[in-house]
This record gives sequence, structure tokens and C-alpha cells, in this order.
Amino acid sequence: MSGRLKNKVALVTGGASGFGRQSAIRLAEEGALVCITDLNEAGGEETAAMLGPRGFFRRQDVTREDDWTATIKAVLDRFAKLDVLVNSAGVAAAADNIEDADDAIWDLVMDVNLTGTWLGCRHAIAPMRRAGGGSIINLASVLALKGEGGALAYCASKGGVRLLTKSVAVHCGNQRNNIRCNAICPGYMLTGMLRDFLDSLNDREGEHARIAAMHPLGRLGDADDIAQMVLYLASDESRFVTGAEMIVDGGFTAG
Ligand SMILES: NC(=O)c1ccc[n+]([C@@H]2O[C@H](COP(=O)([O-])OP(=O)(O)OC[C@H]3O[C@@H](n4cnc5c(N)ncnc54)[C@H](O)[C@@H]3O)[C@@H](O)[C@H]2O)c1
Repeated sequence: MSGRLKNKVALVTGGASGFGRQSAIRLAEEGALVCITDLNEAGGEETAAMLGPRGFFRRQDVTREDDWTATIKAVLDRFAKLDVLVNSAGVAAAADNIEDADDAIWDLVMDVNLTGTWLGCRHAIAPMRRAGGGSIINLASVLALKGEGGALAYCASKGGVRLLTKSVAVHCGNQRNNIRCNAICPGYMLTGMLRDFLDSLNDREGEHARIAAMHPLGRLGDADDIAQMVLYLASDESRFVTGAEMIVDGGFTAG
């Protein structure tokens, strides 16, 4: 541990799995105190156990405003301030195209990915301002930059997250409140989300190889590829970075 996040307090949504879990682990290793939240209580408690005394888990549904109010209060009661918010809770839907789109899928994906991120930004600003500044990190996707025919609501939600991030960044910059807001655009990464999709297929290995080949570095990313970017954006090393979309995709969007 080199203490890059010493004296910082972080809140990580979606902390039961994938990027959220790995980011929480890395933030704590670098000295942060971390609250993780998720709908998945078993996974959340498992992550909290990995963090030891530096972390705690709280069940939260990111789509509910009252849950955000209660979660921010829990963080302030326990750790007295908030410096970093990682909005990592998210859902994906397969085979979701404009002709066969399902209303319920649209609502779920937009509620969790876009509304959940919006509410997180909204509720983090006041405590961060009181702390003298902060860093908000939103998980977008390469599908915020590039269309995918079978990921309609997902693309729409992540495109929304990308520009929501820029709007928050410009507002906070204009307010001179020292709060930065950035998005991360991951390529296809082997976490719970993609594993569930691959597991649903007959030709799991074939599809894995096909998706890996779309990334010039020749592999799928993993949760730590994103956690390392979260560390950078959460730390003061990125003090002049705001409104950015940090692409971590093994070259997926480069070609
Ligand atoms: N894995 C990828 O390939 C990939 C690529 C680009 C972007 N992303 C994005 O990164 C983020 C994290 O993805 P991941 O790969 O770690 O997925 P994951 O499925 O491993 O983790 C997502 C977590 O969000 C939680 N969650 C879902 N709905 C929630 C709700 N309403 N309230 C609170 N928690 C909720 C889930 O329980 C889960 O633990 C997501 O926003 C995802 O869209 C993932």
C-alpha cells in the first residue's frame, strides 16, 4: 500500500461483484475507508469481509431516491464525510433490439444504469462540497461510444451516463466546488455480467474467443483493469481531469 487514497472516504455501488468489488478492494488497499452497497446482500457482505475494518456493506437499491438519502447518511454517520463516489451498479440485457424491445427491460436498464447514476451524482454533491471537493466516477461503456444492435436500452443508458457525466463536470467546475466527475468506458470484461451472458450460450468458448478477438490486445479485460482506472480518478493524481471518458478497452474502439 502506498497510501494514494489516505484519508479519503469512498462509496461504491454495485460492490457485491465485478468492478465494484475490485474497486472497493483497491481503494481500501490504498488507504480509503469504503462503504459498498448493492442489492445482493450475500455478495456485499462477502466484499465487506474482504475489506475488514476499512469497509462496511449496506443494502441499497440505486433506483430509489429514499435509499440514496439513507445511504449517504449511513456513510456520514460512520465515516463523517464523503470524498469519492463510484457508480458501478448496473444491469445489461441480451437480445434487446429496436423491433423486439420489451418495455420492462427498457425501464429496468434505464432505471438502474441512468437514473441510478443520476441520483448518485445528485446526492453526492452536497457532502462532497462540505468535504472541500470530491471525485465522482461513473461506469459508462464502450457502448456509450459505439452502437450495438442487440443492446438497445443498454446503449441508450450508457450514452446517457456519458453526457450526464460531462454536464455534472461542467456544472461543478463552474461552481468552483472542487468536485470532479468522470466516466469510464470499459470494453468487454469478464465479470459477473458477461459471465452470466456467456453461461447462457451453447457455444460459450466460441463466443468468448469471438468477443476477445474484437479487442486488439487479444483478450477480454478483467475487473482489475477497471479498478486501476478507478484508483487514478479517485486520487488527487487526476486533479485536472474532469468531464472525461476514460476508455479502458484493449483497443476495442481504436480500429
Ligand atoms: N462487464 C463488462 O463487460 C462491462 C463493460 C462496460 C461497462 N460495464 C458496466 O460496469 C458496471 C459494473 O459492471 P460489472 O461488470 O461489475 O457487473 P456485475 O454484474 O458484476 O456487477 C453489477 C452489480 O450491480 C448490482 N445491481 C444491479 N442492480 C442494482 C440496483 N438496482 N441497486 C443496487 N445494485 C444493483 C448487481 O447486484 C451487481 O452486484 C455496470 O454499470 C456495467 O454496465 C461492464
